[in-house]
Amino acid sequence: MPLVPNLTLNNGLTIPQLGFGVFQVPQDQTQRVVEDALEAGYRHIDTAAAYGNEAAVGAALAASGVPREEIFVTTKLRNGEHGTAAKAFEASRKALGVDVIDLYLIHWPVPSQGLFVAAWQAMEKIYAADAARAIGVSNFLQDHLDHLLAETTVVPAVNQVELHPTFQQAPLCAQSRELGITVEAYSPLGQGTDLSAAAVTALAQNRGATPAQIVLGWHLGMGNVAIPKSTHPQRMSENLAAAQVALTQDELDAVSALDSGARIGTDPAKAAHTQM
Ligand code: A2P
Repeated sequence: MPLVPNLTLNNGLTIPQLGFGVFQVPQDQTQRVVEDALEAGYRHIDTAAAYGNEAAVGAALAASGVPREEIFVTTKLRNGEHGTAAKAFEASRKALGVDVIDLYLIHWPVPSQGLFVAAWQAMEKIYAADAARAIGVSNFLQDHLDHLLAETTVVPAVNQVELHPTFQQAPLCAQSRELGITVEAYSPLGQGTDLSAAAVTALAQNRGATPAQIVLGWHLGMGNVAIPKSTHPQRMSENLAAAQVALTQDELDAVSALDSGARIGTDPAKAAHTQM
């Protein structure tokens, strides 16, 4: 089974640097897909209440036979539940069938709603009660982080953002790291679109690796946690094997040169209550 490196979060908790994401995996396929991912060797599963597939993830965790403590489980607070985070957390815990969630994230800041500080304060209590091993945020831009840190106590363990070679958000990543916040990349393959970039395919050919392994090797070399998804077991294994692809600085630079600033997903400054 491929060895995936761990990163240490700002509270000492370790997180496998390559995880498996289930965004957009249909509910009726999620259990099978997560069981396949666990079988392939993933030990870090990333879901969200808003994906509607927490129960299927939970069913896969239970059916897999892998001891619970060997799997790092992340889920996220819905936008419409910032004011009722404690209740939402209980619902996620129940759906997943777990006592403790390894990492609980605010899914989007929804600045127009003005409730992320209240949500965070509720999450600080969940963390203090040891019901979540770490708490963090997702889709937070620089001003959202500044606002949160000015008003609360616990520094988020991670900021999970859209991040891939053609959309790197370097200033946001630098700010997060300076604050001790681990950067986690969602859509790490650019939802598949970055795999055909010429620099990626050229490196893949030189290395005898696949384009996905080059892109994921780049994430690992940049110090990101990455959560690629695939519904195909062979690709799950291929992606996990990227942990064995150590890119040189020149190779990292060649991939970093692909940044175009073009976001695929929603802009967090505008994402609203109704979107998730
Ligand atoms: P599929 O599920 O059919 O394998 P991201 O993780 O950036 O959101 O990208 C996910 C997309 O990339 C999905 O469309 C997935 O398709 C595709 N994908 C995942 N792994 C690979 C791979 N190793 N090679 C090609 N496409 C991949």
